[in-house]
Parts: sequence; C-alpha cells; structure tokens
Amino acid sequence: MFIELSDKEKRENPDWLCEQAEALLAGQADRVANAANLSALLFHSLEGINWAGFYFLKGDRLVVGPFQGKPACVEIALGRGVCGTAAETLEVQRVANVDAFQGHIVCDVDSRSEIVVPLVKDGALVGVLDLDSPRPGRFGPEDEALLRKIAAIYVRSIDG
Ligand code: SME
Repeated sequence: MFIELSDKEKRENPDWLCEQAEALLAGQADRVANAANLSALLFHSLEGINWAGFYFLKGDRLVVGPFQGKPACVEIALGRGVCGTAAETLEVQRVANVDAFQGHIVCDVDSRSEIVVPLVKDGALVGVLDLDSPRPGRFGPEDEALLRKIAAIYVRSIDG
C-alpha cells in the first residue's frame, strides 16, 4: 500500500522517493503496471510538475505509455523533440526553457521546462521517462540525479 509521508519524514530521509519507488514496484515485473504506478508516484510527490510519464520504443518511434497530466502526443519519431533526442542519443535531456529547444514538441502549452531520461535495459533502449514543469528551469542537477536513480529502479524492475 502507498503511504504518504509527512514533510518532516521526507526531510529526515533524503532517499524517501527512491525507497517508495522500490517498494511500489517490488514483486511486479510488468512494464506497463510499473510505469503507471511510477508516473502517479512522481506526479503526486514532486512539486511543480504538470506531466510525468513514459514513452516506449516501438520500431523507430516512441509511443506514449502510462502518464499523469494532460493528454499527450501519441507518437514521436526518434530524433524528434526532447523525447526523441533523448532516445536517439541515449543521453538525459534537461531543458530549462522548452521554447529555446529546437524541435520541442508541445503537448501541454503550460510546459516551460522538461527533463527526459532514456530507459536502457541490457544495452537496449526500452523508452524514456519524461517530466514537464510549468516553471522555467524547474529541473536542476539534483533532480537529474534523482530521476536517473528512479529510471534505474524502473528498468531493474521490468522483465523487458
Ligand atoms: N515535449 C516533448 C513531447 C512529450 S510531452 O512533453 C508529454 C518533446 O518535445 O519530446
């Protein structure tokens, strides 16, 4: 069961979100089930977020998976937008100002900054984890480090 922590409990344990993610995914290896629960956890745990979710690789495209937020574009070609760039380069894309990112794909007009973490299992791209914020520069190096850890927890949990 998901137990919401108090602000005090969160302050006392900097690893609280990773621990909650581990607990939430424990014993389940289905990629959709775990992506669904993880999007909900991230969306409701991090402040200043208007979209949190997954795109999965299908052939040469990314197809939207479980997410929280407004309806999003369904397919993204590799190399296109922030998500497609992360998928093609296999590098985290941390974008402080989405309007300044060449080729950014608008899903929610309120989004001002974005971070996309590629999901790689056994050397193969599975998809990407994408978070948007209505605040410019919402995602700093600490957020990137945290989301890399969350992505690793997700990738470890799934059976492919
Ligand atoms: N902005 C993304 C598209 C996905 S949404 O933000 C949910 C992009 O440029 O790839």
